[in-house]
Amino acid sequence: MSGYKRWLRSSSILSLIAASGAIAFLMAGCPIVPNDNSNTNTNTNTNDNTNDNSSNEEPKGDSGLTGAYIGSERCSLCHNNVHANWAETLHAGALETLEAIGQGKNSVCIGCHTVGFGQPGGFVDRATTNALAGVGCEACHGPARSHAENANDESLRPTINISASVCGTCHTDEHHPNFEDWSASKHAAVEPELVPRFAAGTSLGTCGKCHSGDYFYRAIIKGETVSDTLLSGKTSEEMNAITCAICHNPHAKTGNAAEPEDGRDYQLRFPQIAFTTPTNTIAAVQDGSRFNLCGQCHHARDRVWTDSSREPHPSDQVNVFFGEMPMPAAFPEPIVPSRASVHLNAPEQCSTCHVFRKPLEEGIAPAVSGHTFEVNFGGCVGCHGTEEIAEAKLAALEAEIEIRVERLRAALDAWSDTHSLEWEYTSEGGPNAAGQARIPAEIKKARYILYYVIAGGGNGAHNPDYVREGLQIAEELALTAPAPAP
Ligand code: HEC
Ligand code: HEC
Ligand code: HEC
Ligand code: HEC
Ligand code: HEC
Ligand code: HEC
Ligand code: HEC
Ligand code: HEC
Ligand code: HEC
Repeated sequence: MSGYKRWLRSSSILSLIAASGAIAFLMAGCPIVPNDNSNTNTNTNTNDNTNDNSSNEEPKGDSGLTGAYIGSERCSLCHNNVHANWAETLHAGALETLEAIGQGKNSVCIGCHTVGFGQPGGFVDRATTNALAGVGCEACHGPARSHAENANDESLRPTINISASVCGTCHTDEHHPNFEDWSASKHAAVEPELVPRFAAGTSLGTCGKCHSGDYFYRAIIKGETVSDTLLSGKTSEEMNAITCAICHNPHAKTGNAAEPEDGRDYQLRFPQIAFTTPTNTIAAVQDGSRFNLCGQCHHARDRVWTDSSREPHPSDQVNVFFGEMPMPAAFPEPIVPSRASVHLNAPEQCSTCHVFRKPLEEGIAPAVSGHTFEVNFGGCVGCHGTEEIAEAKLAALEAEIEIRVERLRAALDAWSDTHSLEWEYTSEGGPNAAGQARIPAEIKKARYILYYVIAGGGNGAHNPDYVREGLQIAEELALTAPAPAP
């Protein structure tokens, strides 16, 4: 898989160069030259070109550094940790990447590989504005000389912005459409039902952990205590959902990627893969520390089969993947025996199927960044041989699951007809609290399994045998359920 991805990377370099009309000078698979801090002697007071110590390179200096931009080196005086971490990322060496393929002076390219190119005070060239080479601090935070020179003035501090538009200025267009793809995903907007609630200052503490990037950033990433009124009065456009900076650490290599290509890291905030023993307690199923990046939010909540008012939340994908289900404390025995997915060893777990990347198809279709998070059958090829085989397998499984669901629903309906009592949850048109109290445990278990494995099962793909067996057990329960209590 990693060899295949390396090929994708070099092929995208090729199309970029082709697009620029420049002479292709390509070192396929060549690792990015790391930013060598020892010779970036960026003393911001120099008026002359400061030649660096390497013999065969053009002069480097900062005589043109007189405007609103001041350069990342200066930030390190006070933000030493952030700077040291950032210096290790590919952002820091983004101009070297262009230089390595002879494109370091191509104006088509350098806008996204430097700070402020084309703007007053922004990057011009190595000789006059070397401190602005690469994707430096001010590429994301905006020009910050005034802040750096007046650090105590709160009104001049850069605002912290977790919006995807910060990254979208560069991670865009046909070569790397991360922004466009993300914008088309459900991660891009706060669930419409929740917008008015967050705006009214309610529900953020209970629902924000997974539905609000603003809440997730402060409460989970920064560990702050967050008031429910954080988003009061805001519109949907002003609220951040699951933005780039929620999954990615903008400042640091994290070592969390399962299979990074040479020199890469992806800067993921949480491990891309995690293995965990299935555990069926309410506390465990929603404990993010047991799960991978996606499982921080795509995990079950506290509803169990004994609940009557509404069905389980449709977010239990990671639990189905591991083959676990929350059980009430009074009945800890799992209804469906735990078993991990046949797909547990997919090299990037969820991302294998949901964050698949594809190269530009020579002017015909845009590149696929994987950031729609939709299933891409390209991710199945490594194990199933071809996309067609995987598609056919999935179609067969889906057909099987559909039949099992129909049989289960028929068994539940038959029970309802015989006893003149709806089997559904109250929220789904089922009986009220008094009626719910009469429904026997068998029916409650069966309907719980139905909702749980359908919401979390990925049409069966997340854990084929667990979903299959769950539906089988549910059907048996429904067929053997006793009459309702009087
Ligand atoms: C002379 C010291 C100094 C320098 C130089 C400096 N900063 Fe700061 N910066 C501060 C202080 C002090 C704060 C406030 C810290 C706090 O509230 O925790 C701050 C806060 C920030 C914040 C967060 C604002 C917030 O709302 O919390 C950002 C972003 C930031 N600086 C970026 C930069 C960048 C980019 C540079 C370089 C261009 C830079 N700083 C240079 C001292 C400095
Ligand atoms: C719109 C902004 C933008 C422009 C213009 C741009 N790049 Fe990039 N470039 C990026 C981004 C963003 C990445 C990181 C891609 C990723 O990791 O998904 C990148 C990555 C690269 C890489 C690393 C290999 C790769 O494909 O990930 C090379 C090489 C590169 N660019 C060359 C060029 C060349 C040559 C040009 C001019 C023809 C150019 N870029 C113009 C934004 C841009
Ligand atoms: C790729 C974009 C990007 C770059 C480059 C970047 N930042 Fe940030 N920075 C962000 C985002 C987004 C946040 C808010 C999310 C977070 O805190 O991780 C942030 C938060 C901060 C904060 C406040 C929170 C904290 O972590 O303390 C400071 C201070 C800061 N950045 C300073 C810097 C400095 C200094 C540099 C350069 C050495 C830099 N940033 C480079 C995007 C960036
Ligand atoms: C000024 C343009 C620019 C901005 C703004 C920008 N990036 Fe990048 N980003 C790049 C370029 C160019 C590269 C490729 C650098 C290289 O390969 O040399 C890159 C690479 C990356 C990578 C790949 C790192 C790796 O180790 O594989 C990630 C992840 C990334 N950016 C995330 C972000 C996020 C998140 C933001 C916003 C918080 C952001 N970027 C903002 C231009 C930008
Ligand atoms: C553990 C994380 C998590 C928490 C906490 C959470 N949700 Fe969700 N929710 C999700 C995920 C993930 C989805 C998307 C599932 C899918 O589309 O397959 C979702 C989907 C939804 C949907 C759309 C699907 C549907 O059922 O119609 C609504 C509405 C919703 N959640 C409301 C809420 C409310 C209200 C709260 C707070 C009481 C809440 N959620 C708390 C993770 C969570
Ligand atoms: C829900 C989590 C999530 C969000 C939100 C997200 N990413 Fe990613 N991103 C990932 C994962 C996972 C990978 C690693 C993919 C892989 O292993 O192939 C990745 C990889 C990347 C890479 C490096 C690989 C590449 O595409 O060349 C870049 C650059 C990147 N993301 C940029 C962004 C930007 C920009 C945004 C916002 C517009 C964003 N991401 C939003 C999860 C996320
Ligand atoms: C910070 C929380 C969070 C993280 C992390 C996260 N998601 Fe999501 N995801 C959500 C929420 C919330 C929704 C549903 C939004 C809605 O329906 O309004 C969602 C929706 C989705 C959907 C669309 C489901 C549908 O019904 O169409 C997919 C697919 C998805 N996420 C996959 C992933 C993958 C893969 C990852 C890891 C790379 C991931 N998510 C990481 C919160 C998250
Ligand atoms: C890490 C390797 C791996 C990847 C990647 C992978 N699979 Fe599988 N898959 C397996 C194994 C192993 C089995 C069990 C043996 C079999 O049925 O072929 C399996 C079984 C299946 C089944 C049959 C389940 C059943 O019992 O009926 C389906 C459907 C399926 N995979 C779909 C997919 C799809 C769709 C993708 C990509 C989106 C994919 N797989 C990616 C390894 C993988
Ligand atoms: C073997 C490939 C594969 C893996 C691995 C995988 N998924 Fe899926 N996922 C699917 C398929 C197939 C679907 C259903 C059909 C579709 O969306 O195209 C799906 C659907 C989803 C949905 C939409 C709601 C649903 O359940 O139908 C979400 C959300 C989701 N997956 C999240 C995840 C998360 C989180 C992980 C990791 C724990 C994961 N997926 C792992 C293949 C996979």
